[in-house]
Amino acid sequence: MARELRRVMAGAHVATFLHDSDIPRLVHLGHEHAAPVTDDLIDHLIPPGGLDRPAAPSLVTNPAIGWFGEPGVVLTRNGKALTINFAFSSEKVSGDSITLDFTDDDLQAGLRISAKLHESGVLTLQATVTNLGNQDLGVHALALTLPVPQHLDELLLHGGRHAMEFVEERIRWGRSVVTSSSRRGRTSHQQSPSVICMERSTTESRGEAWGVHFAWSGNFLLTCDAVTADLRTITAQELLAPGEVILGADESYSTPPLLITRSSEGLSGVSNAFHQHLRASSPPSKRSVIVNTWEAVYFQHDNEKIFELARRAARVGAERFVLDDGWFRGRRDDTAGLGDWEVDPDVWPNGLEPLAELVTSLGMQFGLWFEPEMINPNSNLYREHPDWVLGEAQQHYLTGRHQLVLDLSRRDVGEHLFTVIDRLLARLPISHVKWDNNRDLVAPGTHEQTLGMYELISRLRKAHPRVEFESCASGGGRVDAGMAHHVTRFWTSDSIDALDRLEIQRGASRFIPPEMLGAHIGAPVCHTTGRRHSLSFRALSALPFWLGVEWDLLSASEHDLDRLSEVIAVHKRFRHLLHKGVTRFGNHPDHLIHQHAIIAKDRAEALLIVASRGSGPRHETAPIRVEGLDAASNYRCALVPLGKPTWALHRGLPRWVEHGVIATGSQLADVGLPMPPLLPASGILVHMERVQ
Ligand code: GLA
Repeated sequence: MARELRRVMAGAHVATFLHDSDIPRLVHLGHEHAAPVTDDLIDHLIPPGGLDRPAAPSLVTNPAIGWFGEPGVVLTRNGKALTINFAFSSEKVSGDSITLDFTDDDLQAGLRISAKLHESGVLTLQATVTNLGNQDLGVHALALTLPVPQHLDELLLHGGRHAMEFVEERIRWGRSVVTSSSRRGRTSHQQSPSVICMERSTTESRGEAWGVHFAWSGNFLLTCDAVTADLRTITAQELLAPGEVILGADESYSTPPLLITRSSEGLSGVSNAFHQHLRASSPPSKRSVIVNTWEAVYFQHDNEKIFELARRAARVGAERFVLDDGWFRGRRDDTAGLGDWEVDPDVWPNGLEPLAELVTSLGMQFGLWFEPEMINPNSNLYREHPDWVLGEAQQHYLTGRHQLVLDLSRRDVGEHLFTVIDRLLARLPISHVKWDNNRDLVAPGTHEQTLGMYELISRLRKAHPRVEFESCASGGGRVDAGMAHHVTRFWTSDSIDALDRLEIQRGASRFIPPEMLGAHIGAPVCHTTGRRHSLSFRALSALPFWLGVEWDLLSASEHDLDRLSEVIAVHKRFRHLLHKGVTRFGNHPDHLIHQHAIIAKDRAEALLIVASRGSGPRHETAPIRVEGLDAASNYRCALVPLGKPTWALHRGLPRWVEHGVIATGSQLADVGLPMPPLLPASGILVHMERVQ
């Protein structure tokens, strides 16, 4: 067929594909008002000295026709890689979506590519290979490829470690190939399945940026590929083990969805498109304030203490009480019990009913911790079904936190887990399940395992539509858009150190809406880092996210409990704004100043969080310039008290701190709001409200 352009549109957004007899490529993603791309403007990609007909960076690239970058499709028969030649067979274009079918008649294989543009400006891409013959067809790789415009030569990547996830790394992208991947059977703490590519001059709110996120919770590989000096691509694929996906007649394998957006408003434009997208596609929730028992009691399930904790939770205004690890058979520490999902009569002689009744009579909802995918060798389940463990027998010695993994690709295992969890959800008034996963997987291939986990949660959600699921994987080890379709909350990190959390939460909220990120006010001395922070700083760092408390409230003074109630009241007062607003982090001249604004969609109000992360060379904190408000409108700016002020008292304070100030949106963006001299690990909360 002749070269033609295909456009899909949604809201104000348009995606353009170049379609000829080959597999199409994405040639433009942008705003409907932007000048439309025409065929004459499209690069024909003929590298000198290369093949006479060079392969283009199509949505699924094919090494058999001379694609030298990361291969888009590798298929096998009898263990041998095949020479593939997909020919266009049909297409369906409808407004915001396009579906294209290709076949290779010799190989008897089909390829379908579907793209859908959403109102949010996020484009989702997915590819499917189908075996159209009778002989088994192996899928060794199936990847989606996106050509990246040449002027975007910086990358922002996220990763880290347990208790310090989502640390940002901004690097120059030259001739090197940069990858982000996981071979741990879960998304991982180390690397996220996402990347932002941008101009060197891109800031939080200016410049071009493309956000790319792979919606998958198992092994993955994102390759920022420098195919030639003139051509860079981003390729996303599930990492499949050799022989892991073998398709019988008429069977198919689909890639997880790849999510892409383009922003001309810097990093905040990328984040807000993703937030809007996931807000529309994730389960809804009121996001009740949670008290979680973990750091208050760990495995010491002293009933009286937990009852008292529940009373104090209600007193400070919590709306949901989540009993964490330690309630089930044999679980006195982390060496035993996983798999035996029955209430342990040794610690809960009257069952969990009295606690659940107390919690609900106090006006709160009740939640419970599970780690369904795992099994301790020291459990009844293991003694009865050692064969239910994932991996070969010799891998049964490779425990992590003393546990092994259940094989969720087995129907009987999935059925058993559904039955035991369903029974508890039916018997107790449970509104919230904290679904944990505390070890990496070593078995080759995790495709079926990941699908089995999604399937189990889906079944339970369907059977118990009122129960909300929170995803945890030793904190932030499985935070991705694949999981976001099944859960309302992520436990962002096992560290609730308020200072580290500023960085962790900023990184995580580049792609995940802030209200899905669990953030707790912990004990005065953080259990993970040993650092002491004031209540107001701990509150400030957690406030804009899904708020919770994880602190032994029996050790808190009456004064602290009163102040905690005030903080929770502030969160509830602004929850509508915090959980629906537009996120804008700031570029403050002092990199130790953390600046985070949440602006209502209609710009009628905003909340501004300013926090000092350490001691810098300056005496003064430079004014905070807030972009994104309505330039011509007046805003009344007032401090929201969060306990004792923590600024250098001997220095002069800006006048507005006491009585507030009225300033226009453009004044706030250009001149900014003068700041009190913030002490290290302290901050302020400012409310800005449009007035006549
Ligand atoms: C993991 C979670 C914690 C807690 C413990 C319980 O580490 O991340 O929040 O639930 O397990 O064992």
